[in-house]
Amino acid sequence: MSSLKEHIKIETLPKHIAMIMDGNGRWAKQHSRPRVFGHRNGVKAVREVTEACAELGVEYLTLYAFSTENWNRPMLEVNALMTLLVETLSKEVKTLQENNIKLKAIGDLSKLPPKTCEALLKAIEDTADNERMTLILALNYSARWEITEAVKSIVSNFRQESEKSLDEIDDLLIDRNLSTAGIPDPELLIRTSGERRISNYLLWQIAYTELYFTDTLWPDFRKEDLYKAIVNYQSRERRFGKTSEQLHT
Ligand code: IPE
Ligand code: IPE
Ligand code: MG
Repeated sequence: MSSLKEHIKIETLPKHIAMIMDGNGRWAKQHSRPRVFGHRNGVKAVREVTEACAELGVEYLTLYAFSTENWNRPMLEVNALMTLLVETLSKEVKTLQENNIKLKAIGDLSKLPPKTCEALLKAIEDTADNERMTLILALNYSARWEITEAVKSIVSNFRQESEKSLDEIDDLLIDRNLSTAGIPDPELLIRTSGERRISNYLLWQIAYTELYFTDTLWPDFRKEDLYKAIVNYQSRERRFGKTSEQLHT
């Protein structure tokens, strides 16, 4: 069977892909099982997407794993998700090492249960020297939280240095104060499960990102689905405010 991978142009491969992994609950419902069963089956999709991105040469992959709003779910589900994270991290660190993948996390990690936070920080430390690809987990993350934190840190710096001029506040300064400092903005954002919203994800960083929505539920998402999204992305014209004619002269 031919793969869409053959149609991907390496010259215009996105450097950074962001994903909203959605639809675990509905997938479980389709299989007449509890929601947690969907989350467990979502791990395979995480593995597939990570491996596919590394194989293609994508430099950064950011996965939305838990939003600040997800604390509002039933306690049983929240606890199960946190436990699943610890389990998965301890199991997968070896694979990350073998594949030379660096793990990072964005979000308010201090509010995670201590065991989850420990497992995460350990995995980050263990993979810190890897350089083939960076896998970023957005955990207890929301874009409004991140932007609020950036504002606080900028204001606090300005208070300490009274001679600073307001003109020093620009895009770059804001970028540098976000949790994604040093990471290029994603060129492509993929959301699974048919929902067409951003759900408080990377609001600053996706100002010019191409959005791709698929009805596939996250636990069913495989390498071929990723290739399809990238091929679709590569068929688009990214104009950044210019006219199409300007781009072709
Ligand atoms: C995404 O799947 C996983 C998380 C948000 C943690 P959902 O759990 O949101 O699945 P649906 O949207 O209810 O189907
Ligand atoms: C977004 O999914 C968050 C993650 C994928 C972790 P949700 O399922 O929580 O999003 P909404 O609330 O339906 O928009
Ligand atoms: Mg959902």
